[in-house]
Amino acid sequence: MPRTPGPCALVVFGASGDLTRRKLIPALYALWVQRYLPGGFAVVGVARRPMSDDEFREHVRKGIEEFARLPIEEAEWREFAATLRYLHGDYGDPATYQRLRELLAQLAAEQGTGGNALFYLGTPPSAFPAVIEQLGRAGLACPLDEESKQCGRWARIVVEKPFGRDLASARALDRLLEETFGEEQVYRIDHYLGKETVQNILVFRFANGIFEPVWNRRYVDHVELTVAESIGVEGRGSYYEESGALRDMVQNHLMQLLALVAMEPPASFDARSVRHEKAKVVRAVRPFAPGEIGRFALRGQYGPGAVAGGRVPGYREEDGVAPDSRTETFAALRLLVDNWRWSGVPFYLRSAKRMPRRVSEIALRFRMPPLALFPRTPLDQAEPNVLAFRIQPAEGISLRFEAKLPGQELHVRSVNMEFRYGTSFGLAAPEAYETLLLDAMRGDATNFASAEMVEDSWALLDPVLNAWAAEAPGDFPNYEAGSWGPAAADAMVANDPVSEARAWRRP
Ligand SMILES: NC(=O)c1ccc[n+]([C@@H]2O[C@H](COP(=O)([O-])OP(=O)(O)OC[C@H]3O[C@@H](n4cnc5c(N)ncnc54)[C@H](OP(=O)(O)O)[C@@H]3O)[C@@H](O)[C@H]2O)c1
Repeated sequence: MPRTPGPCALVVFGASGDLTRRKLIPALYALWVQRYLPGGFAVVGVARRPMSDDEFREHVRKGIEEFARLPIEEAEWREFAATLRYLHGDYGDPATYQRLRELLAQLAAEQGTGGNALFYLGTPPSAFPAVIEQLGRAGLACPLDEESKQCGRWARIVVEKPFGRDLASARALDRLLEETFGEEQVYRIDHYLGKETVQNILVFRFANGIFEPVWNRRYVDHVELTVAESIGVEGRGSYYEESGALRDMVQNHLMQLLALVAMEPPASFDARSVRHEKAKVVRAVRPFAPGEIGRFALRGQYGPGAVAGGRVPGYREEDGVAPDSRTETFAALRLLVDNWRWSGVPFYLRSAKRMPRRVSEIALRFRMPPLALFPRTPLDQAEPNVLAFRIQPAEGISLRFEAKLPGQELHVRSVNMEFRYGTSFGLAAPEAYETLLLDAMRGDATNFASAEMVEDSWALLDPVLNAWAAEAPGDFPNYEAGSWGPAAADAMVANDPVSEARAWRRP
C-alpha cells in the first residue's frame, strides 16, 4: 500500500496547546516537506482561545522553528501554511460543530479533502467526552453503518493519552466512543508504538530465523523493561500529581513493549492479527494475588539529589506538588505471563523520573550454561548472555556474550556485539508522531492500542492502584534523585526465587 494517504482534513481539538505546537504540527510539516501528505489536505485547529487563521499559523510556525527535525524553508512553509485553518469555540457547544461542519464542507470543495476527516483529541482528557458526543450529534462521526456508507466519506478519531485513569473510566470512554464511532474508527495513540526501534522489535523477531527458537522459557531467564527519565516533572507537577508513574508510563508504554516482546507470531501483519496477539499476552499476565502487591509491585518517590552533576529538589519540593504528596515517581512490577512460551519467566518492568540517565530499554537475559567448563572463571562469576534493545537514546541492539581473553591463560570476558541505527543506516528516523499520523490517515491501526488491550492493562493494574491508594507509603521519599530507585526494588529482583537475576541492569 502506498504511504501517501487519500485526501482528508485533520481536525485537532486543543490546537492552541503544547502538544499541537511541539509534536503535531512539526510532524505534519516534516510529512509535508517529504511529500507524504495527500494533494487534498487541510488542518483545522479547534480550541476555545480566539485566534485568526493567520495568528494560528504564526503560533504553530514558532513550534516548527523550535521543535521540527527539518528546518523551515520559506516556499514549503507558505504552501503548508495555506492548509492551516483555525476555529475557536467551546468543546461542548453544538454551534462549534455546526461551524466545523460548514468549514469541512468548504474545505472539501476548495482544498479537495473529499469530506474525509481525521479528528484528533488533543485536549486534556476531561474534554474528551464533550468532543466525542458533539461530533456524534453533529453527524460528523460518520460511523460505518449503512447510512454513512452511502455518504461515501470516512471519519476516524485519534485519542491521546491518558486513556482513562482506571478500568472504569477507560471502559466509560470506550463505551462512548463505541456509541459514536465504531472500534475500527478509533485510534488510541501510544507514541512508543510509532518509534522506529519499537517497530523494529517485530522485524527483529519475525524477519530473522535465529532468534525465535530461543525466544522462550527454555532459554530466557527473565526480561527487563526499563523506561527511565532523568528529568523531574518540569513544571507539570499538578498534572503528575493526578497521574504518577504507573498511570503515566506503565499502563500504556511498558505494557505495549511487554506485549511486543512476548507475543506470538501474528497470522499476518495487519492491525487485526497484530493487535489480537498483543492482547493475548496481556490477557495471560497472572493477576496479582491479594498480599502479593507489596512484594511484586513497588513504588517510590524521589527526594533531593544530583542528576548530571547538578543538585535537584525532591519531588515534594516541585511546583504544583503537595508537600506530603503520595504520588509515585517510580514504579516497578514483576509480572508472570502464564502461557506456554513464557511460563515461569519473570518480566521486570520499571519506570521512573530522576534516574541517573534517560534510557528506554528491553533486555532479554538468557539462562547460564549448565556447567562451568572454565575453572578460572567459575560459573557464578560468568555473565549471562543478554540481548538488549535500546529504544532511546543511541537507538540500537546489543548482544552480550562471553569470549576468551587473549593470552596463554584461559580467562573469559564479556563482550558486546553492537548494532546502532545511526551508524548502520545513516538515515534520520522519522518522529513517532509522523509515522502515527500517517498511519491514522491511511486507516492502518496496527500501531495503535486496541480497546481490549487497554482495558485488560487497566484490569491488571487497578488492584495495584487501589492498594496504593488505600495505604499511605510510609517511606516517601525513598530514593535519591539521580539514583536507580528504592532499595526494595533491588531486593525484589535479587531475591526472586524464580530467576537467576541478581540485580537490575544499569543501562
Ligand atoms: N504535550 C505533550 O507533549 C503531550 C505528550 C503526550 C500526550 N499528550 C496529551 O495530549 C493532550 C493535550 O496535551 P497538551 O500538553 O497540549 O495540553 P494543554 O496544552 O494543557 O491543553 C491543550 C489545549 O486544550 C485546552 N484546554 C486546556 N485545559 C482545558 C480544559 N480544562 N478543558 C477544555 N480544554 C482545555 C486549551 O486550549 P483552549 O483553552 O484554547 O481551548 C489548551 O491549549 C493531553 O491529553 C495530554 O495528556 C501531550
